[in-house]
Amino acid sequence: MNTKVVMLDEHNLDKSALIECGRVIRGGGLVAFPTETVYGLGANALDSEAVKKIFKAKGRPQDNPLIVHVWNTESIKPLVKEIPQIACKLMNKFWPGPMTIILLKSDLIPDETSAGLNSVGIRMPSNLIARELIKISEVPIAAPSANISGRPSPTDVERCVEDLMGKVDYIIGGDKCDVGVESTVIDCSVYPPCVLRPGGITLEMLREVDDKIYIDPAVMKKPDKDFKPKAPGMKYRHYAPKAPVKIVQGELNKTVEKIKEIAEEYDRENKIVGIMATDETINYYGKGVILSLGSRENLDKIAQNLFETLRSFDDKKVDVILSEAFNEEGIGIAIMNRLKKSAGFDIINV
Ligand code: TXA
Ligand code: MG
Repeated sequence: MNTKVVMLDEHNLDKSALIECGRVIRGGGLVAFPTETVYGLGANALDSEAVKKIFKAKGRPQDNPLIVHVWNTESIKPLVKEIPQIACKLMNKFWPGPMTIILLKSDLIPDETSAGLNSVGIRMPSNLIARELIKISEVPIAAPSANISGRPSPTDVERCVEDLMGKVDYIIGGDKCDVGVESTVIDCSVYPPCVLRPGGITLEMLREVDDKIYIDPAVMKKPDKDFKPKAPGMKYRHYAPKAPVKIVQGELNKTVEKIKEIAEEYDRENKIVGIMATDETINYYGKGVILSLGSRENLDKIAQNLFETLRSFDDKKVDVILSEAFNEEGIGIAIMNRLKKSAGFDIINV
């Protein structure tokens, strides 16, 4: 397939390019586009044939449902059975933005989109390219992250091109994504609502609306046959660069010492070690390819850089990646969720 790449300025939109992409979506084609979280791979959510193309392009397991993106609240009504009051409150407070709400689906949503579930995830992105594309397409857009299944999600257009060139009709490029990790997925088809995937809207923020909101306990643990996360997508090894990732967790100075020790062992075996450090620790390491995620004082920045840094280690052809850990509070929960999954829960406690 011949993929066209078009660069757009979110704050000075070239409508003619979006009109063309809208036509592609309506015609059953695939368009990758930026959102404030990660890049998405979009198709008409109401067209089962178009949705099947998403699964094929990504190599995505069939049992993993897609999120349906809308540009205004009006367009949600036909897609769902009902909108509980708690969902309305969350929408009013956090939309447009990095939050997906799970509701009982109407018959308009094909089984391919919901992967056979009776519910559907709805999200209103804040990125203006995304919203204008949905509006111009005149249909809701189903969009998973625009990566090959299993790899870290793309947070800039180059990574999107790397994964999807030749597999989609259009790639729309915009700025680097603000949030850097995917949206918070919250199930409002049940009460109290349950967070199925931590993301840009933190638990603390959600609890300002209702303090009964909680996180699916399976999310931060290694999935096994008795302990399954409620979001089908959370059970797969995910967000993973080519090299295996190991997390070292504990007091920061002990973490640094342990990572140095392991790095030296690998170095003796002539392996290239990647070290995922922070501004506070980067100068203490010696051997290896050392990249900083940013300052520990600014976890938002660390979230924004996480996937890009994991992918950079692949470019540098490292054999193994050793990562520091972060406090599991605020956006730190989403960071540690992605990091643990990328490591397949290989964690060394010090
Ligand atoms: O930030 C985002 O949400 C990005 C951008 C492109 O909007 N999209 C995204 O989609 O991350 P995806 O497909 O990579 O992740 C969707 C997650 C999966 O873990 C999936 O299992 C879960 O949401 N999910 C979707 N619909 C669901 C449903 N009806 N019930 C439970 N989980 C659902
Ligand atoms: Mg994804």
